[in-house]
Amino acid sequence: MDDRTVGSRQVDAFIEDKLLARDPALEAALRANAEAGLPAIDVSPAQGKQLQLLARMTGARRILEVGTLGGYSTIWLARGLPEGGQVVTLELEPHHAEVAAANIAAAGLTARVDIRIGPAIATLDAMVAAGEAPFDLVFVDADKPSNPAYLRAALALSRPGTVLVFDNVVRDGTVLDADSADPSVQGTRALYDAIAAERRVDATAIQTLGAKGWDGFLIGIVDA
Ligand SMILES: C[S@@+](CC[C@H](N)C(=O)[O-])C[C@H]1O[C@@H](n2cnc3c(N)ncnc32)[C@H](O)[C@@H]1O
Repeated sequence: MDDRTVGSRQVDAFIEDKLLARDPALEAALRANAEAGLPAIDVSPAQGKQLQLLARMTGARRILEVGTLGGYSTIWLARGLPEGGQVVTLELEPHHAEVAAANIAAAGLTARVDIRIGPAIATLDAMVAAGEAPFDLVFVDADKPSNPAYLRAALALSRPGTVLVFDNVVRDGTVLDADSADPSVQGTRALYDAIAAERRVDATAIQTLGAKGWDGFLIGIVDA
């Protein structure tokens, strides 16, 4: 680990100490994920809080999440909802969904979270076909090659003003490599191209250095 990585982790710990209240349910979720053998690829605490603030700032009542894992980001988002609000979260792996359901129950949030199991593209297609009501906030954090498809589905499930957030759009700077053989890099690059070509979305991406390394969120708003 280089000095910059060590330093950025220390700064994240400082931010957590100063600005993030301790939440035993979130801490327990990370422990349960590790015990269940889930990879530690959840958002960081500071990123989780950022998602929760976005939910609150936008007054979101309906949130769509693609990529549940053990429900860590789901809990942050669900805690940002008003009474009667809901997170619909999509997960491919039944084992991940099972661990998430237990973590969400332990956080007292079962009534606010609807976990749907299966390949997210198929789940999203079914939601569009069923005429599901639009979402106020969409957080995409699943398989990166599918990001352009997730963007299309998110738009079909949006209204003017819906906020879109995509995770891992910097990838240690590898997003610059047009010839990358990594499908996640190519999926991320294709997401930038799709958003750049999409008149309905106004977006930017912010690079971050923190507990999860050098990466970033892409955030956008649906204009029409
Ligand atoms: C980075 S993790 C999500 C982390 C979570 N958002 C958090 O911060 O706590 C990505 C998740 O997406 C799921 N996933 C991968 N491919 C998927 C697909 N095609 N459909 C739905 N979920 C998928 C993985 O199983 C994994 O649980």
